[in-house]
Amino acid sequence: MTRSFSLPRSRDDDPDRGRWLPVPEGHRQSGPGSLEIDDAMPCRLIRRSETLHRLFDSELAASEYRATGSADWLLRSERSALGVVSGKRIREFAAGRACARHALGSLGHSAVALPPLPDRRPCWPSDVVGSISHTRGFSGAVVASTRTHRAVGIDVEVAVAVTPDVWSYVLTTKEQERLEAVADPAARQSLAAICFSAKEAFYKCQYTLTQRWLDFHDVAVEIDTLQRDEGAFQLRCSVELPELGGTMPIWSGRYQRLGPWVFTGVALRR
Ligand SMILES: CC(C)(COP(=O)(O)OP(=O)(O)OC[C@H]1O[C@@H](n2cnc3c(N)ncnc32)[C@H](O)[C@@H]1OP(=O)(O)O)[C@@H](O)C(=O)NCCC(=O)NCCS
Repeated sequence: MTRSFSLPRSRDDDPDRGRWLPVPEGHRQSGPGSLEIDDAMPCRLIRRSETLHRLFDSELAASEYRATGSADWLLRSERSALGVVSGKRIREFAAGRACARHALGSLGHSAVALPPLPDRRPCWPSDVVGSISHTRGFSGAVVASTRTHRAVGIDVEVAVAVTPDVWSYVLTTKEQERLEAVADPAARQSLAAICFSAKEAFYKCQYTLTQRWLDFHDVAVEIDTLQRDEGAFQLRCSVELPELGGTMPIWSGRYQRLGPWVFTGVALRR
C-alpha cells in the first residue's frame, strides 16, 4: 500500500523556523585521521533541536538536521569504519555524525571523530554519553556530560512507517490490546509508533551500560495520555539489568509528535 505524508521542504514550512542557529565555532581538528571540518561542513542548517531538547528535563545538548547529509562531512576514520554501504546509508550516517558534532560543540567539545564501534554504537568521547537517530527527513543527536548522565537514548520514527503488520512483532499482547481499544485509526497508529519508538530509545540508553540485546517483548511501555502532542511514558523491562541499578524496575521517558514524526527520549541521570 502506498502511504503519503508531507515533510517540511524548506525553512518556511518549518514550524520551528526562526530558531536556526549557526554551527558552533571551533569545528576544527588537526592530527592523524582528521580533516578541516569547517570547509567540509556546508551544513549550516544543522541547529539546536528544540524538539529533541523538550524530551529531556535536563542539561544536555541536542541538534537536528532536516535534509540530506553529505559524505563530505565524514572524518576519515568514520568513513573507513562504515565500510561498503549504500549512498543513502552514507548520507544518513553523515547527517547523524554532523548533528552529534554540532551538539558536542554546544557542550564545549571540539570536533572529534565518532567512528562506530563493532556493535554499531558511536564511540563517544570518554566524558560524554550520547545518542543518534535518523529517519526520513530528520536526523538528530543528543549528548550530555558523564558528570550529569549515565546514559541517554533517543529515537525518531515516521509514524505511518510503523505499519500494523509489525505490531505483533514489536508490541506485547497487552500493548496490542490497548491499541485495539483506540477507536480512531490515526490515534491508534500514533500510539503504536510511540510505543515502538520508546522501546528503541530505551534500548539505546540501556545498551550504553549493559551491552545487552533485548527483545521487543522484554520491554512493556505505558503511555500516560495521548491527548496532547507531547507527554510521558513508563517502561518496564522483564529482563534484569543490574548494571542500571537493579532496584529501579520502572524507567520513564518522554515523547513528542511533530508533523509526520514521533520522537522519544530516555535518560538515566547520575
Ligand atoms: C540499534 C537500533 C535500536 C537502531 O534503531 P533504528 O530505529 O533502526 O535506527 P535509528 O536511526 O533510530 O538509530 C540508529 C543509530 O543508533 C545508534 N546505535 C546503533 N546501535 C546502537 C546500540 N547498540 N546502542 C546505542 N546506540 C546504537 C547509532 O548511532 C545508529 O546510527 P548510525 O549507525 O548512523 O551511527 C536497532 O536497529 C537495533 O539494532 N535494535 C536491537 C533490538 C531491539 O530493538 N530490541 C528491542 C528494543 S527493547
